[in-house]
Amino acid sequence: MKKPWRHYPWYSDAHTAEHSGYRTIAPEEVERAVLLIGDTGAPETDQPDIVLQMMAEHLNQLKERITAVLLGDVVYPNGLPQETSFLRKKAEKRLQVQIDVVKDHPGAVYVLPGNHDWNMGRKNGFEYAQRLEKYLQGHSGRPDIYQPPHNCPDPVEIPVTNDLTMIILNSQWWAQPGPKPVGEKDGCQSRSGKDAIAKLKEILNRTEGQYRLIATHHPLFTNGQHGGRFPFKRHIFPLTDAHKRLYIPLPLIGSLYPYYRKYIGAREDMIDKTYKRFREQLLRLFSAHRKLLYAAGHDHSLQYFRKNNHHYIVSGSGSRTSYVEGGHGAHFTHAERGFFKLSQLKNGEFWLEAWEPAKDEQSAYGRLMFQTRNTAEPDDKARTLDEMG
Ligand SMILES: [Fe+2]
Repeated sequence: MKKPWRHYPWYSDAHTAEHSGYRTIAPEEVERAVLLIGDTGAPETDQPDIVLQMMAEHLNQLKERITAVLLGDVVYPNGLPQETSFLRKKAEKRLQVQIDVVKDHPGAVYVLPGNHDWNMGRKNGFEYAQRLEKYLQGHSGRPDIYQPPHNCPDPVEIPVTNDLTMIILNSQWWAQPGPKPVGEKDGCQSRSGKDAIAKLKEILNRTEGQYRLIATHHPLFTNGQHGGRFPFKRHIFPLTDAHKRLYIPLPLIGSLYPYYRKYIGAREDMIDKTYKRFREQLLRLFSAHRKLLYAAGHDHSLQYFRKNNHHYIVSGSGSRTSYVEGGHGAHFTHAERGFFKLSQLKNGEFWLEAWEPAKDEQSAYGRLMFQTRNTAEPDDKARTLDEMG
């Protein structure tokens, strides 16, 4: 039987031409690595979770030389509810299996929040995020696991090596309506979003020359549903989303939802006004800098884009997969569970890889699906925001 679309990885011609095969990076070659995994909020809880197991293998191989970053949406569907809620037990279980993977890891571990962790962006989302911060600190025994502290908009600068700085950014703060922390009274340095962007600018200026990894939840480029891309099937048979056998043709009505997401957008979509403004601010800022990798989750797939000599990934398939397209400037996309890993080698090179569970379950370490050397070539002539697409 022909496999459905989602099982096929997509590679650009340019990527295929550049890579006739991938090389194995030996652990001894690695100076430091950062594992980037998003949307881990619905792991298997009654049996071992195949992606978390694979993550444990990668952490165990490099030990203190690898940092783990969870890119948000760590509890589906609505973050960590109050203790009295009937959803609380399930949420705790989902968090516990993730905590089990990182608890004794000798390297650094960071979790940043996504929209689901802020109760899907509802007005009381801040309460949920505060609860999650305390819970993760208490149960992991790692006081600095949750970033940024107090759910502030402050970008958090984390030096990884002399040549690599990670900056954790709380994109959900920008997407969040209603109460959110700001200023001294809430333990934040930034008095506004504008203030936080200025701080990010200052960090980028100060660390120029180094490789900068920006880790957050919302992507700036995506070929998934949050970017308004839906499968053709979804336009004609919209009910298949509710149940895979509900092939009832509703062509016009079916298109309403995908078009709504593409042209009007839910709050968490790229077309949403607040999101658009946030994205434009960041792209404008990045255009003045070199050596940038922007890592996000949010869409449930693995995606790599190279834009204006910067690298953009979506690593949001920690637990689930959803539709993703090829093309539109991407070099690799796949609707499969897995994660990305950035390695700085002892020879100074930076390599980015995408890992997915091995189908035959022969290797707990998984299989390498994508690899590229992240060079920072001299800037090509300055491009406008529109050209960057
Ligand atoms: Fe999300």
